[in-house]
Amino acid sequence: TTIDHYFYDESAYDYHDGGYVPLKVADAPTKPLTIPPLLKPDKQTANETWYTLTAQAGETQLLPGEKTKTWGYNGSLLGPIVHYERGKTYHLHLVNHLPELTTFHWHGLAIPGPIEDGGCHAPVYPGQSRDVSFKINQPAAFTWLHAHPCPETAAQVWHGLATGAIVTDQHEAKLPLPRNYGVDDIPLILQDRRFHENNQWDYRADYDPDGVAGPTPMINGTINPYFDVTTQKLRLRFLNGANRREWRLHFDDNRIMTQIAGDLSLLPQPIKLTKLMLTCAERAEVIVDFGDCKPGDVVTLYTDQTPLVQFWIHEFKPNHQELPTKLFDVPNPEVTPGLPIHHVTLDGMDEMVAMNGKKFQMDRIDYTMQKGQVQIWDIYNTNGKPGMIHPYHMHGTTFKVISRDGHAPLPTETGLKDTVAINPGEHVRIKVWFDVAGVFMYHCHIIEHEDGGMMAQLKVIDPADPNKEYPLLNHM
Ligand code: C2O
Ligand code: CU
Ligand code: CU
Repeated sequence: TTIDHYFYDESAYDYHDGGYVPLKVADAPTKPLTIPPLLKPDKQTANETWYTLTAQAGETQLLPGEKTKTWGYNGSLLGPIVHYERGKTYHLHLVNHLPELTTFHWHGLAIPGPIEDGGCHAPVYPGQSRDVSFKINQPAAFTWLHAHPCPETAAQVWHGLATGAIVTDQHEAKLPLPRNYGVDDIPLILQDRRFHENNQWDYRADYDPDGVAGPTPMINGTINPYFDVTTQKLRLRFLNGANRREWRLHFDDNRIMTQIAGDLSLLPQPIKLTKLMLTCAERAEVIVDFGDCKPGDVVTLYTDQTPLVQFWIHEFKPNHQELPTKLFDVPNPEVTPGLPIHHVTLDGMDEMVAMNGKKFQMDRIDYTMQKGQVQIWDIYNTNGKPGMIHPYHMHGTTFKVISRDGHAPLPTETGLKDTVAINPGEHVRIKVWFDVAGVFMYHCHIIEHEDGGMMAQLKVIDPADPNKEYPLLNHM
């Protein structure tokens, strides 16, 4: 069976919002899709790798005419893809060449907080740097890096401070999946922007407390991209890197996408779909088979009615290798006896957004948990109808979706997750556990909601060092 619908409440889709910005194809020629390079290590040994990431300002030729002033990592816009291998230790030199402070948040990595995690308590001031080290111990996944200086996260991501990070492990490496980066394994970072006079971005002019959006789709920092297909099968790693926009992905010919992975792991088994919705910060990996195409054909990926990427088909060798029916044993640890269910509410819209009735405060710990414990959390979207779909995200952990209003999770969310979309009025039950300690944020990933205060933080106590203090900032 092939899934042919998007699952979520149609009446809560972003295009029903009063401030919705419809997409429009830019008046610009098609361009080859930018494939971000893989980040080159400064140094490497068998078990350790050293990387440098510099946040910097620059200019990018996005549209014909004037270049756009943009921000990026090690370049003018977005950044290189960072490769992490499970079991290895990484040493990161994080440099800030911007005129304001920033942070380097590893969205989806289970690493200690709040410093390594890179949320708002780990600022790197202009002209300065910070060094962090951590070990990767989590399954293969497509994660990401973005700036997280509260409450300027949304503006900095809009300027371009975001990129992908691929975690690999020995299990995934043995599966018959495309993994020739840039050829048959490509990231698709989905964003949208508004170009003002002289092709410039203006975050403040476009500000909307329910999320900033623009009419022009931008994929890996490319406007109107095409990709040359030279293999029968392609692995697409989608990342919704937009501040607000949801993507409802489908091909013009209704071509099947076989989803193999969600945010933080492979799915237990591949699922076939023709429609895939991603809310902010969610990821999905799909395999697309072009075996029925001939050289010269063009297949186009859409969101709603708007084309995003053209796939130009060239000669390729036939590849009829089947996917295994079983991809991954999803960890599902037993709930720690005696722990109460923890309730979280996502409240309000516009400037009124809050979590459990309160706005985020940097020096307030809202909840405490122990490393190694496993707890049920119930996350409620208290918006009435009509209301918004809020993508709920947690730092430092991988969670498992247990149910939606008591019903089975969606087939697309049966792997490990770090972000889960919640319909208005709905509650989603998740199983939460931490393998690392520290202070971590959890929030709505409509980035303006996060900056607006629909966010809280918890302290995960290490039983081996229960009195450890974590220095928290109280302002940026
Ligand atoms: Cu993408 Cu607080 O994170
Ligand atoms: Cu995060
Ligand atoms: Cu929200």
